[in-house]
Amino acid sequence: MHFSSSDITSATAYKLLVSTILPRPIAFVTTISQNGIPNAAPFSFFNAMGSNPPVVALGFEPKQDGRNKDTATNILETKEFVVNMVDEQMAVQMNQCAADLASDIDELQLAKLDTLPSIEVTPPRISASPVSMECQLYNNMELEGGGQIIIGRVLHFHLRDNVVTSLNPLRISIEEIAPISRLSGPHYGRVNDIFNILRPE
Ligand SMILES: Cc1cc2nc3c(=O)[nH]c(=O)nc-3n(C[C@H](O)[C@H](O)[C@H](O)COP(=O)(O)O)c2cc1C
Repeated sequence: MHFSSSDITSATAYKLLVSTILPRPIAFVTTISQNGIPNAAPFSFFNAMGSNPPVVALGFEPKQDGRNKDTATNILETKEFVVNMVDEQMAVQMNQCAADLASDIDELQLAKLDTLPSIEVTPPRISASPVSMECQLYNNMELEGGGQIIIGRVLHFHLRDNVVTSLNPLRISIEEIAPISRLSGPHYGRVNDIFNILRPE
C-alpha cells in the first residue's frame, strides 16, 4: 500500500509518521515564559542532530487554534530551554504535562515535579530526570501548516552520577538511564532487549 502526500490530509500524514517512525525518544522540555511562568511538556519529534556544535531538534505541531505551543513560543521568545530525558518512574507526570493547559499554568507544579537550577540557562531542569541538557536556540524553521522545527545548541549536559560508569573512557549506562520511548497512540516502549552488532573495520 502507498500514499502520496498530495492525496492525504495532514491528519493522515501525522498518523503515518507517528505510527511508522518507531520508537521515538522523548524530550521533556522545560522553558520559562517572558512573564516568568515555568512550563513543561513532552515532545517525541525529537533527536540529536549533530555534535559540533552539539545540537538537538524538536518538532512542534500547532495548537488546535493554529497558535504555537507554549514551549515553542517560550523558546522563540527567550532563546532557552532544557531537554530532560524521561524514565518509567516519570511517565505519569510527563503525560500529565501533555494536557492542553492555559499558558499561565505551571505544569511542573501541577505534576508535582521538583526542579534544580540550571547553570547556563534560566529554565530549571527536572530533578528526577537521569539526563538533562541545557539548550540555547540555534535555528528555527516555520512549516507551512503552522508547525515549527526548532534546533537547540546544547550548552551543558547533566547526567545523574550513577549513569556515568566510567569517565576515561566515558561510558554511560543505558540501564541506568532506562529511557522510555513513544510509540503510536497511548503506547510506550522500554529499552529492555538489547543485542550487539560490531561495526565493520
Ligand atoms: C509522549 C508525548 C510526545 C509528544 N510529542 C509531541 C511532539 O513531538 N510535538 C508536538 O507538537 N506535541 C507533542 N506532544 C503533545 C504536547 O506535549 C502537548 O501538546 C502539550 O500540551 C504542549 O504543551 P505546551 O503548549 O505547554 O508546549 C506529545 C505528547 C506526549 C504525551
